[in-house]
Amino acid sequence: MSRFTQHHTHSSSAAKWVFLTSCACLLGGALVADFLWASSSYSSSAYSFISSNLALDKSGALVVPNVTANEADQKGSFKDKKEHASERLLSGTFADISAPELPWENMTPAPVPRLDGSSIQIKNIFYVFAGYGTIDHVHSHVDVYNFTDNTWGERLDIPKEMAHSHLGVATDGRYIYVVSGQYGPQCRGPTARIFVLDTETKKWSSMLPLPSPRYAPATQLWRGRLHVMGGSKENRHTPSVDHWSIAVKDGKALEKEWRKEAPIPHGGPHRACVVMNDRLFLIGGQEGDFMPKPGSPIFKCSRRHEVVYGDAYMLDGEMKWKVLPPMPKPNSHIECSWVIVNNSIIIAGGTTEKNPVTKRMILVGEVFRFQVDSMTWSVIGRLPYRVKTTLTGFWNGYLYFTSGQRDRGPENPQPRQVVGDMFRTKLNL
Ligand SMILES: *[C@@H]1O[C@H](CO)[C@@H](O)[C@H](O)[C@H]1NC(C)=O
Ligand SMILES: *[C@@H]1O[C@H](CO)[C@@H](O)[C@H](O)[C@H]1NC(C)=O
Ligand SMILES: *[C@@H]1O[C@H](CO)[C@@H](O)[C@H](O)[C@H]1NC(C)=O
Repeated sequence: MSRFTQHHTHSSSAAKWVFLTSCACLLGGALVADFLWASSSYSSSAYSFISSNLALDKSGALVVPNVTANEADQKGSFKDKKEHASERLLSGTFADISAPELPWENMTPAPVPRLDGSSIQIKNIFYVFAGYGTIDHVHSHVDVYNFTDNTWGERLDIPKEMAHSHLGVATDGRYIYVVSGQYGPQCRGPTARIFVLDTETKKWSSMLPLPSPRYAPATQLWRGRLHVMGGSKENRHTPSVDHWSIAVKDGKALEKEWRKEAPIPHGGPHRACVVMNDRLFLIGGQEGDFMPKPGSPIFKCSRRHEVVYGDAYMLDGEMKWKVLPPMPKPNSHIECSWVIVNNSIIIAGGTTEKNPVTKRMILVGEVFRFQVDSMTWSVIGRLPYRVKTTLTGFWNGYLYFTSGQRDRGPENPQPRQVVGDMFRTKLNL
């Protein structure tokens, strides 16, 4: 997502994310292990690696079996004290990080709740794209928010062939590039197609497709080229490290084919991708993702092995990836959860490593800050709840966030309800 905010003194940018993995065979191995594991004696409800985490009921709430770590214990998975000890130890690493209080102001919610939507801010206007409403229903429109009068207004339809979730998005301040992504609900297949919205005429056009489709690739405009990196490959799980770019201007490709660039150091989807001070940053993300259940006519989502990471990388004029300090905790699902404020990147929410005992997904509630001049991370506050795939904007001193999937409550960081809430808080960095 790109941010073109007049208040930024430095070039703003856009975002999105994802990358590559060091070894596809490693993951393949992990996946096999997962299958074996799921069919072993661990098949109590606490251990089924199923789509239950993603199943939405009619109200839009996620239905997750209510299994606590204690119940899992009683089901006989942990027999000796050593394992109990390591369970306690591990749990600590997934805990919330202490953070200063931020006073959040409740704004008008988005017209629809959305999970895995995307967003782009252009000055005071915030474009919120598609996403899942429920696991069986995806949105086919863009909602538009005006930061000046704080209202949701326009609603634009997306082209019929455009993907609905896991998009890569970037903007030059007028044209919004919408790259690849998943077409349809549940865990359906991806499309390689690319569409461009001219925000002045409100007209869509299409562009040369990606060489191969990707789920949630890191996407950004940088030095006149549209860069698309990482994401998951066609099976939704296998991380890609591919990095392609193409020269673009005014919503059109200036070249006939994509150029291969330096592969990203770590592959996979759901990463933040930010251009700032003429450098391109990649932050967080994961390897692996839910996959369609084999043979399922509706491509039912089925959980697979995932590894979340906090790695950060930077590309500058040298066109060689440089390793930066990692985030304070592993963090994924943050492709549209960042803004640039002064000389910092602010990231809100996400998902971190799963609970080592229950294997449940753990959401993130912190607001992180990366100071680009000192290359240091800090936690500057906490969101009203933990939430992933939240969409953020920054206007007139306020950090805004909307949408995503929130936690089950202050004591339970597992994902539950898909929301359309909009909040803001005044930042003072
Ligand atoms: C889960 O179980 C706990 C303990 O039995 C209970 O307090 C809580 O309300 C349950 N949560 C849901 C969502 O059913
Ligand atoms: C946003 O709101 C302001 C204040 O009401 C208005 O002047 C402006 O035209 C709006 N912008 C758009 C694009 O609707
Ligand atoms: C950004 O920097 C300017 C100039 O130092 C300062 O006035 C402003 O408060 C800063 N913005 C935030 C959100 O901290």
